[in-house]
Amino acid sequence: MSGRTGINVGLMGLGVVGGGVASALLQDPSTVTARVGIPVNLRRVLVRDRSRPRDIELPPGMLTANAEDILDDPDIDILIEVMGGSDPAAAYFRRALSSGKHVVSANKEVMAKEGADLMALARANHVSLLFEASVGGGIPIVGCLMNELAANDVYSIRTIINGTTNFILTRMAHQRTAFADALSEAQGLGYAEADPTNDVEGIDAAYKLTVLATLAYGCRFSPDDVFRQGISALEPQDFRYAEEFGYAIKSLAIADQNGEQVQLRVYPALVPFDNMLANVNGVYNAVEVHGSLCGQVLFHGMGAGRGPTTSAVLGDLVETARLVRDSAVPGGPRELSQHLGVRPIDALRTRYYIRLIVADQAGVLAQIARALGDEDISIASVLQKDADAETQSAEIVIMTHPALESSVQQALLTIGRLDPVRRVGNMLRIEE
Ligand SMILES: NC(=O)c1ccc[n+]([C@@H]2O[C@H](COP(=O)([O-])OP(=O)(O)OC[C@H]3O[C@@H](n4cnc5c(N)ncnc54)[C@H](OP(=O)(O)O)[C@@H]3O)[C@@H](O)[C@H]2O)c1
Repeated sequence: MSGRTGINVGLMGLGVVGGGVASALLQDPSTVTARVGIPVNLRRVLVRDRSRPRDIELPPGMLTANAEDILDDPDIDILIEVMGGSDPAAAYFRRALSSGKHVVSANKEVMAKEGADLMALARANHVSLLFEASVGGGIPIVGCLMNELAANDVYSIRTIINGTTNFILTRMAHQRTAFADALSEAQGLGYAEADPTNDVEGIDAAYKLTVLATLAYGCRFSPDDVFRQGISALEPQDFRYAEEFGYAIKSLAIADQNGEQVQLRVYPALVPFDNMLANVNGVYNAVEVHGSLCGQVLFHGMGAGRGPTTSAVLGDLVETARLVRDSAVPGGPRELSQHLGVRPIDALRTRYYIRLIVADQAGVLAQIARALGDEDISIASVLQKDADAETQSAEIVIMTHPALESSVQQALLTIGRLDPVRRVGNMLRIEE
């Protein structure tokens, strides 16, 4: 152990997560101190608006709205960033890492967009950059991919990684609620933001998937590499029909390797009820890693919230503080030396669920089957449902055998143009 008698921390952000971190360090520092062996002192806390009322009382002079008070303080060893967003966070990371400060962050956006460069900068400056809280809240998946699972070739990562959408889908499945009602309930409970776009359109999940895939495959990926489909087009009957076939509907974020390519995709999918992911409900998250040595490993837990996220941030803080204590050089994540391509969604081969609203007349199914057959898609089963006397329409639900995504898209264009087809209700992929 070096002669250090304490370690100094600057905190950027005092919201949901920052409040948890600050109160742990100020009001109950004994656990962190015991794990590190010397005191870990919170020196400064950066916010946007100093006049805003806070749910935690800070010592006089600790709060600042000037980032330089942390970035230019040579006595601060570790920067904890829990502000969110990539701007100005990425610039602050660069300054901190370049000046020899270690960084701990909960920021999935900055890590997804600029993580590869920031990790390289950390390595070049012999400092540590840890970001466990950026994916899965209290679930320790980031560190596991960097360390405990590092000896595996990762065949696939399949996740439920956004608690807001999982809450909405669970409500829609169990209460048969419409999407808009489930969303307002999530907003009322504080699980969804006033502008829910990032969650319901899969943007948040795409950031997290990018971070996981970058670590798992040792390759630079960007959020733009992720195929994304949101959940807002789902209707209560999709859940009813899926259930009749033995499936739940879950918003999955998936990375899997096929030869020299990785496919990254976020979409609502049918998952068989006997699959563990089908039984992850409410705001819970799950991550299933399939590795060459470990086989299938499942992580399950609270993916957000003050407690779980603070747990992840403080875990990284303890690890970093031990390095500072020992004046040690961090191991850091693996070099991103792999060059893998991104497999386009058109190349996906899976089974499909297709719901069509059609005129209630004879011969419709034959026309639809022909359009599918022309694209080499064979039907596994069909349900014909809910003939509506008033509009003289019915719903046809088709489950296909494995087919190519590009063929299914082409067939749906043709089917949508058929005279008796009123509209394509939904097309969902099946993840067995
Ligand atoms: N909430 C969760 O459950 C959760 C879970 C996992 C990861 N995360 C990640 O943790 C980070 C923080 O999330 P949060 O929910 O704690 O956010 P939040 O409640 O909105 O708090 C953000 C804090 O950062 C400060 N801030 C924002 N932009 C700033 C800027 N440009 N300069 C100075 N201060 C700034 C805000 O200051 P003011 O208070 O003055 O506005 C506020 O104190 C995000 O990256 C998020 O993705 C959150």
